[in-house]
Amino acid sequence: MRKKVTVIGAGNVGATAAMRVAEKGLADVILVDVLEGVPAGKALDLAEAAPIEKHDCRIVGCTNEYLQAAGSDIVIITAGIPRKPGMSRDDLLSTNMGIMKTVVKEVAAVAPDAILIVVSNPLDAMCHVAYEESGFPKERVIGMAGVLDSARFRAFIAMELDVSVENIHAFVLGGHGDTMVPISRYSTVAGIPVTELIPADRLASIEKRTREGGAEIVGLLKTGSAFYAPASGAVEMAEAILKDKKKILPCAAYLQGEYGIQNLFVGVPVKLGEKGVEKIIEIKLNEDEKKALHQSAESVRKLVEDMKRLAK
Ligand code: APR
Repeated sequence: MRKKVTVIGAGNVGATAAMRVAEKGLADVILVDVLEGVPAGKALDLAEAAPIEKHDCRIVGCTNEYLQAAGSDIVIITAGIPRKPGMSRDDLLSTNMGIMKTVVKEVAAVAPDAILIVVSNPLDAMCHVAYEESGFPKERVIGMAGVLDSARFRAFIAMELDVSVENIHAFVLGGHGDTMVPISRYSTVAGIPVTELIPADRLASIEKRTREGGAEIVGLLKTGSAFYAPASGAVEMAEAILKDKKKILPCAAYLQGEYGIQNLFVGVPVKLGEKGVEKIIEIKLNEDEKKALHQSAESVRKLVEDMKRLAK
């Protein structure tokens, strides 16, 4: 039997994720949105591309209707509003918190065994909402941020050295915001530490560009935020889970003591397999990296506290 992936939010990120899931032949796709006609229209358009793209995944679009999502293996949540120029991800907090609550309640009712991949921003805070509203175990609520931030870091390193992106492994840890922590020390080019190939000042500016990677795209697009790379990130995670790949990827996971952080979603390397987060990998950080990760975690904690105040 084919697997089922539901994508909530048929906007830029959601529709692109649906396309990638289908074109990789990973699963049937259910697209859900509040907009009348849009999910059905995009699903039909994608289904009509299937003969050319050579896949047999079924794609269905639904408006405010979750029955088709029943029994989903994975639910990718992209519902919400994106950033406009000058906005931080945190500015989306109260609107997207409300949307996330509604959506997750519906999802948990029809797909109680699904694994949730959260994409809506502010990412780490939205993971908390999804975790609390779903009541799912922590292994089954995962945030997509590190894969995207690391992909940006990898792309910039590849551009700098004029080598294949496939040669680059890189890690970005922490929250999905300005305080994220690119870890150059553990980033390699064909196994060679990047710190040996790129001078420290250039590396520092690549790290900065990575931290501001989302804002760079918002500044160029003006009417929305990045979606091709975020969709790729969510689908890489979905693929690792659907194929039980045991792939190590940086994801927002619920920490309970790991890295000295308690009860908070923060980006760390995890092993993704059919059960979701199968292991949180604790890498050795130096004092500066530890400090930066804890600072980043504190900014996530502040958002979680803001949400508690907003909910009152
Ligand atoms: N249920 C389902 N869909 C919803 C709901 C809801 N309650 N509320 C809003 N949506 C839908 C919108 O109708 C829209 O089609 O979510 C979609 C969001 O799409 P876009 O506006 O194109 O935004 P996108 O660029 O896809 O970003 C979505 O992902 O990367 C993050 O910061 C980004 O939070 C944003 C989210």
